[in-house]
Parts: sequence; C-alpha cells; structure tokens
Amino acid sequence: MRGFRISMFWWVVITLAIVYSVVKWAIPALSREITTLPFPLPVPGTLMLFYMVLTIVALFLMVTFSDEGLESFSRPIRRLLRGDFGQPTAYLVLLAVPFFVGWQVYEVVVPKVEVPVSLRIQHPSSNFPKKFEEMKNPFSNPTDEAITAFAEAAKEGEIAFIEQVVGDIERWEEESEPDHVLEFFPTPAMTALLGEIEGGEIEPATAKAALIEKNLFEGRALYAMNCRPCHGDSVAGDGPMADGFKLRPINFTDNGTIETIVEGYTFWRVANGGPGLPTEATPWDSAMPIWKLNLSDEERWKIIMAEYDLAQKTPRIPETH
Ligand code: HEC
Repeated sequence: MRGFRISMFWWVVITLAIVYSVVKWAIPALSREITTLPFPLPVPGTLMLFYMVLTIVALFLMVTFSDEGLESFSRPIRRLLRGDFGQPTAYLVLLAVPFFVGWQVYEVVVPKVEVPVSLRIQHPSSNFPKKFEEMKNPFSNPTDEAITAFAEAAKEGEIAFIEQVVGDIERWEEESEPDHVLEFFPTPAMTALLGEIEGGEIEPATAKAALIEKNLFEGRALYAMNCRPCHGDSVAGDGPMADGFKLRPINFTDNGTIETIVEGYTFWRVANGGPGLPTEATPWDSAMPIWKLNLSDEERWKIIMAEYDLAQKTPRIPETH
C-alpha cells in the first residue's frame, strides 16, 4: 500500500500534541457546554500528568516494538543533527529544546497565587454554638421595659448615647441650642415622639419607633468607625482597604450573604471574626477581626442592626419559628 506516510517521529509529536490539547482545552470547553456555567470546570494538574505519562509509555512501546519503528523515529533527529536541514536550523532546535524544558520547569516550580480548586464554605456551622441560633437582636426588637425606660428618659430630655457619638451630639447642642436633644434626628419618628412629649402622653409604639431609630443611628456610627474600611460605605464590600485582601470583605447587599443567616449566627461571626472559623472556611484565611475583643455585645448588636438596614436585608428567621 502506497500513499502519504509520515515518519514515526512526527506521529509521536502529533499524538502528544493532540492528547495535550484535549486535556488542556477540549475538556474545559466541553465542560462549559455541558454545565452552561460561564466558566470551565477546572482540570486538575494530575490528570494532565496522568494522560501524558500514559501516552508517552504507549508511544515508547510502539516506537521500540520493531527496528523499523525505532529507525523511522530517529531518522529525522539524526538528519537534523547531521545538518541535513541546514546548520542554523540544527542550532536553533538545539537551543530551543533546553530552553523550552527549562521554561516548563520554571513554570512548575515558581510559586504562584492561584484560586484554589476546593470551594470555601462561607457559612460553616461545625463549631457554631447552637445557643446562638435563637438569639434576637435586642436593639431592633426592644423589650417593653427598654421602651418605657426610653420614653421616661425622653420626657426628661436625658437620653443616654454610646460614648462614641456623645462628643458630636454635644458639639451640635452647643451650636444649635435645641429644646430637646432628640431634635438631633429630624425624622418623622422623632418628630412624632417630640410632639407626644409636648402633649404629655407618649404612645409605646411611637417611643419604640424612636428608640429603634436612635439605636440605628448609633449602629451606623459604629459601622463607619469599625467596619467601613473593609466593607465600604455602601456595605458592598468595597471599602478603601478591601482590595488588599485576597479573600474579599463580604458584600452585604449580595443575596446569599447576611440575608441567608439567622441574626445569632451573624452575631457569632462578628464576635469571633476570621480566627473563629473552622477549617471548612479555608483555604483562604479571613481578615475579619475578632470583634469581641474591641466591641461590647451592645455595640456589636447595634452594628449588626445597621448592617442589615444599610444593606436593605432582613436576617433569616430561625427554623423553629
Ligand atoms: C480588615 C477588614 C475587615 C473589617 C475591618 C471588617 N471585616 Fe467583616 N469581613 C472581612 C472579610 C475579609 C470577610 C470575608 C471573609 C469571611 O467570611 O470571614 C468578612 C466577613 C464578614 C461577615 C460575614 C458575612 C457572611 O455572610 O458570612 C460579617 C457579618 C462581617 N464581616 C461583619 C463585619 C462587621 C460588623 C465589621 C465591623 C465591626 C467588620 N465586618 C469589619 C473583613 C473585614
């Protein structure tokens, strides 16, 4: 049988190239078609190694099976070395081969920052203390006692603010000399409360709305002081420091973050930060600070209240409810 025949050498080269291309490009492209995801599924490096080693072993057996095979394989190499293709070509190939091998070794050995294959679990629960599950934010759901106490304090004009905002409020009082400190909040809820104080009769619902507003204000102030650098003004995880972290600060406006967890879980997460997470939350380490070291329970609850409010989200309701 006569026809177009290629030497064993080119057979080997073409087979290796095809197997490499299939694993490197065809499988990922096919995975995109099948999964319809906007990105290919990762092909592990060991799979490539596996296929290439198997292919090389098979080709080696094929080439060395007969003397003709070996002869057909080595002929182009011998012709190149003899200079049949011209001396410059020979030198070029002799330079290119070690260069290519060296480059490949460098690629393998050089340390790189890569997205790990394993997925990170954003909300691990293996070490989440169950007693937190049922917790309710006492500042967005104030008790009747807290509401009454606030109404009394409002009547006296002696509202207690967290220390972080007291300075600002006092400065404002000096400048604008208000009749009542709550005029600091020019909002419908506060105006309604001030109206009822004037009339002498405070409705619990009015006091509750005003108290929640005051708590929210304090929470926002604490958020700006502590969380904004990473989580951002718009709570979208885009604060000025955010770009510095490989594992980015969470975007709270994203569905699937704070909306999918119960308040008690958020409270626990903020208290214990990155170091409080179990191994499922790796491979990256989280830069979230351990806030229970610097902020009181009250401060953290108020921040969480503000965090949900700024993100326009509501926490998940515990299953038992
Ligand atoms: C140094 C930067 C930094 C600061 C400051 C910071 N965080 Fe974070 N935070 C992160 C990073 C990074 C993540 C994402 C990794 C993770 O889940 O721990 C995160 C995650 C979170 C999560 C988890 C959200 C979820 O859905 O799993 C909450 C809640 C959170 N932060 C709240 C806060 C609050 C509240 C403050 C302020 C008291 C704050 N963070 C300050 C870096 C920061």
